[in-house]
Amino acid sequence: MKNLLFFSSNKNKVSEVKKLFKGSGIKLYSLDDFEKIKEPKETGATFVENAKIKSLFGYKFFKIPCFANDSGICINALHDKPGVKSKRFFSKFLSKKNTFNYIINKTKESKNKAAYFKTSICLTLNEGEHIIFEGKINGTISNFPLGKNGFGYDPIFIPNGQNKTYGQMTQTQKNTLSHRSLAINKLLGFVIS
Ligand code: IMP
Repeated sequence: MKNLLFFSSNKNKVSEVKKLFKGSGIKLYSLDDFEKIKEPKETGATFVENAKIKSLFGYKFFKIPCFANDSGICINALHDKPGVKSKRFFSKFLSKKNTFNYIINKTKESKNKAAYFKTSICLTLNEGEHIIFEGKINGTISNFPLGKNGFGYDPIFIPNGQNKTYGQMTQTQKNTLSHRSLAINKLLGFVIS
């Protein structure tokens, strides 16, 4: 397999994933390499279902092997929410800062800072052949948003065993341990072997 499409146009995410593919011998495309398309709605109840909706759509539309990821943060003090609704959760608040404050206050009220990030990747090789790869990382919610790197919830998530948020890490550091890199490395092991 020489060509592979990563069904995403999120610049941060595409850049993280392209770094992981360096030296693999695989030409990795993303949605930014093509004319803008209308992406399918993420109507699944789980990360796997949403990843499959996107990878199957990408495979059918572009006719090349395609993978998509669906990920999110699950916060103990919010009963594992926002989870699959991580992207939409931001729109409930006036700003990113307000979203972070809400989460941080909830973790303080409940004296429970535990959280995890999860990624599910679906690789679609043809219409009936889907392979799932997963990555999960446990951590805690920081007392304040810290760091300007990355995207989404990066400034408030400290992976266990680390003293920095994802937002304080370089992309290379984040890639050594992140939920997404764990899943992508499993995918790479499969496609290269
Ligand atoms: P997606 O399914 O990978 O597009 O992720 C959905 C949402 O989860 C994103 O819009 C982010 O808000 C959040 N998210 C997923 N992965 C990360 C990450 O690595 N860092 C921070 N936020 C993330």
